[in-house]
Amino acid sequence: MNRKNVVKLADGVYWISIRDWNRRLFDALISLPNGTSYNAYLVTGGSLNALIDTVNPGFEGDLQAKIHAVTNPEDIGYVIMNHAEPDHAGAIPYIMKIASDAKLVTTSRGVKLAQTFYGVPQERIKTVADGETLSLGGKTLRFIEAPMLHWPETMFTYVEEDGILFPCDFFGSHLAMGVYSDEVEDLLVHAQRYWGEIMMPFRAMAQKALEKLKPLNIRVIAPSHGPVHRNPKIILDAYRRWANGETRPKATIMYVSMWGSTESMMDQLAETLASEGVELAIHNLALSDVGDIAKDLVDSRAIALGAPTVLGGAHPLAVYAAYLVKVLRPPAKFAVLLSSYGWGAAAIKQIQEVLGQQNIEVVGALEVNGPPAEEAEKRVAELGKMLSKKILEVS
Ligand SMILES: Cc1cc2nc3c(=O)[nH]c(=O)nc-3n(C[C@H](O)[C@H](O)[C@H](O)COP(=O)(O)O)c2cc1C
Ligand SMILES: [Fe+2]
Ligand SMILES: [Fe+2]
Repeated sequence: MNRKNVVKLADGVYWISIRDWNRRLFDALISLPNGTSYNAYLVTGGSLNALIDTVNPGFEGDLQAKIHAVTNPEDIGYVIMNHAEPDHAGAIPYIMKIASDAKLVTTSRGVKLAQTFYGVPQERIKTVADGETLSLGGKTLRFIEAPMLHWPETMFTYVEEDGILFPCDFFGSHLAMGVYSDEVEDLLVHAQRYWGEIMMPFRAMAQKALEKLKPLNIRVIAPSHGPVHRNPKIILDAYRRWANGETRPKATIMYVSMWGSTESMMDQLAETLASEGVELAIHNLALSDVGDIAKDLVDSRAIALGAPTVLGGAHPLAVYAAYLVKVLRPPAKFAVLLSSYGWGAAAIKQIQEVLGQQNIEVVGALEVNGPPAEEAEKRVAELGKMLSKKILEVS
């Protein structure tokens, strides 16, 4: 069994993960410096076997080999589709062929996705309701709906006898390495990055899901990306903090600058914030990575955006950053916006339009003509002091 790197999580529960060491981009947006893994799982009962999630297209043969190391694919009675995104459901057409008697198990909202994305015929779909159970003989699967974490059809599967939760993307991290999270240094940094990119926009839904999980006696959390949590308290506590929008006395500074004027204002702001004791994360938008920004937004109490003026508006990278803040919905409470222009201020108005209605108080916005002179520097420092006060006042 070890030849195929199958790991037994409990009697009759197997991790049959595919590691994608070389993947460098996800959703055509998010960089993956550490690759990722597509974790499928097999649960073998006395009478039936279930495959929990599949893998990204292109790895069907590898998954089949891993299944073979445990059981004959024809003995799979259920293919559990916790989530319909192709990184976990893309191998469903292949698996439904080799597991010719299997039914696909999904939520009512998953039925249409299974049909349209994967061509699964109605008669091979078993719809389960929130809280419903399915017995495999000595193993009971309980299904927990977790809508919008992060698609509408998403559910978690829980093996009652072993206390093992399969939450698909929830609690995941994009890491190809490791089997257990306690083997990975900085696991929470990776998990935070994943949360920021994928789950942060759905904090209210995440809170609801965490409430639903409370009565369960969870011993192991086995997500579909990255390592398995055999000491689940660590990741559960982190998710509780992030879902509740708990922030640190920290500011995420994002800026772009063509000729250094906006940059010198951002430097001044950073110096002031740092001297007041605020933790900083600084991203030059021309060089930085969306995943790193998302990670820092998870626990920042404030953001600062530096947006120089280009062609009658804000620099496109600053517009992009403002749009990211709008859609990722970080818990930040305060913001400062800074800009430099040559002949007509226009950037701040556009940034505010892109940000739209947010629960973020703009503590100050400043547009400076050309490079900041002494007076402008003083005003930036004052803004920095005001922002620090706001950040540090929050308990
Ligand atoms: C390609 C380009 C387009 C620009 N378009 C405008 C503009 O439409 N309106 C304006 O007031 N300034 C414009 N500027 C001038 C810059 O806003 C000005 O130089 C500003 O100080 C740049 O700040 P930075 O050094 O932080 O990039 C433009 C500059 C460049 C390089
Ligand atoms: Fe997903
Ligand atoms: Fe995923």
